[in-house]
Amino acid sequence: MISRAAHRKIRLKAAWEIEKLRRANRIVAEALLELKEALKPGITTLDLDRMAEEAVTRRGGKPAFKGYRGYPATLCVSVNDEVVHGIPSGTRVVGRGDLVSMDLGSIWDGYYGDAAISTVVEPGDATAKRLIEVTKEALMAAIAQVKPKNRLYDISAAVQTVVEENGYSVVKQFVGHGIGKALHEPPEIPNYGTPGQGPVLKPGMVLAIEPMVNAGSGAVKVLADGWTAVTMDGSLSAHYEHSVAVTENGAEILSVAG
Ligand code: MF3
Ligand code: CO
Repeated sequence: MISRAAHRKIRLKAAWEIEKLRRANRIVAEALLELKEALKPGITTLDLDRMAEEAVTRRGGKPAFKGYRGYPATLCVSVNDEVVHGIPSGTRVVGRGDLVSMDLGSIWDGYYGDAAISTVVEPGDATAKRLIEVTKEALMAAIAQVKPKNRLYDISAAVQTVVEENGYSVVKQFVGHGIGKALHEPPEIPNYGTPGQGPVLKPGMVLAIEPMVNAGSGAVKVLADGWTAVTMDGSLSAHYEHSVAVTENGAEILSVAG
């Protein structure tokens, strides 16, 4: 998400709401798998956007990002030094070796799904692949902290630890977020923090955790289009996101294919 709203109440979801969130997020996960499959040299980021919209609507969902604060597309496609919120374009052709991050949201019966993956267009080099693997590992380490009685910044700290142990940097300008009847709900989930601090996690919370990891410095800037965030130093960046429910004994990843 973009802005850093003040702390408000984290709303717990009932089982029937989690079921709707499961549906919305499954749509996103399945669509992202299709996009990953379609990602070949020569395809444009606008082709990917059209496929994303088709994949979401075919499953009964609605695009969640289109029109959100004026965002013009269904998909965010961020290539190489682009961090997040890359706007699809018919002139942006992806080629061999590109690191492509795709972030997708859907709405199903009023509830939101949100997830992102990064992938390299083969043949890709080991540097890009390692950055992607570390970003995914950071997300999974974060999800391992999602359980009742843990605290929010246990999640944040887990991301930061994995990233920094591997010599990379977390992006601090963007954060994960709660998700439900809105794309962005409290709390904000930074990708850095002090373990043992922040709100206590409770069953029924639903969180979109999204590490953005730069190979170089964590500094980013937003381009003149008002959306595309790029690394300040031109280094590669990767992004993974899952929407996750806190359960009685741990976490359920909602953004998985059925
Ligand atoms: N996953 C991103 C986020 O939570 C995607 C938002 S794109 C936007 O911020 F266009 F909807 F803003
Ligand atoms: Co998100």
